[in-house]
Amino acid sequence: MTDATTSPAGSPASTGKPILQVSDVHAAYGMVRVLHGIDLEVRDGEVVVVLGANGAGKTTTMRAICGLVDTTGSIRLDGKEIVGKKSADVARLGVAHVPQGRGTFADLSVEDNLQVGAFVRKDKEIRSDIDRWYEVFPVLGERRQQQAGTLSGGEQQMLAVARALMGRPRLLLLDEPSLGLAPMIVQNVFRNLQSIREEFGTTMLVVEQNANLALGIADRGYVIEAGRIVLSGTADELSSDDAVRAAYLGY
Ligand SMILES: Nc1ncnc2c1ncn2[C@@H]1O[C@H](COP(=O)(O)OP(=O)(O)O)[C@@H](O)[C@H]1O
Ligand SMILES: [Mg+2]
Repeated sequence: MTDATTSPAGSPASTGKPILQVSDVHAAYGMVRVLHGIDLEVRDGEVVVVLGANGAGKTTTMRAICGLVDTTGSIRLDGKEIVGKKSADVARLGVAHVPQGRGTFADLSVEDNLQVGAFVRKDKEIRSDIDRWYEVFPVLGERRQQQAGTLSGGEQQMLAVARALMGRPRLLLLDEPSLGLAPMIVQNVFRNLQSIREEFGTTMLVVEQNANLALGIADRGYVIEAGRIVLSGTADELSSDDAVRAAYLGY
């Protein structure tokens, strides 16, 4: 376990090169300051989780990375500064965002949602990628012409993930994929994330209140409280940390 204030990022377990480096990031909605100096890092191939209670600043951290909120400090993607860039440009640079709640276009079909997810691409493999996601998630293939808004919550969450992956992102941001889903469905979503990780090596930053499941698929994690990172460590270290257990694991 490392104190986030002395060792903001990295661990001996992470050997890939850094993809995302967030350093001293502050963010505000108008006069309301929400992030007070966030430091975190995601390395190539890693799954990193940010744990925090409601209102801690998890969604705002995601929004800062995506260029969706007024942000100062430094956010580097593959070494390149992205603070101040527009969200569409951040997406083009390879950051795909599955927002909290609804990550799909409810009025569009499953197939059209996947097409939209490929908007950053110009290559000719979009069709074969769509078919691949239908293989990974057969239920989406069976419902390809169905309006996304009529899918079940779990199906919509998997469509949101597949839509994001259609951009062939360098980094997949997932904002509380468990939110609003029944426990069994949540387990299913995390199993799917785990197999995507194993099969495609997708680098992910996941924010969650469901610490148990998130730590189960993560290499490392951070704990955010009131807009500050207060703890960081490997998933094992966080799972056995008394404060994390009391606050987020419930045992
Ligand atoms: N659009 C907004 N305008 C003003 N304050 C906001 C806005 N969105 C979120 N906040 C505030 O910012 C803080 C962090 O919110 P958020 O990042 O959504 O937390 P989390 O995702 O961890 O629940 C909360 O106090 C919340 O009320
Ligand atoms: Mg949130």
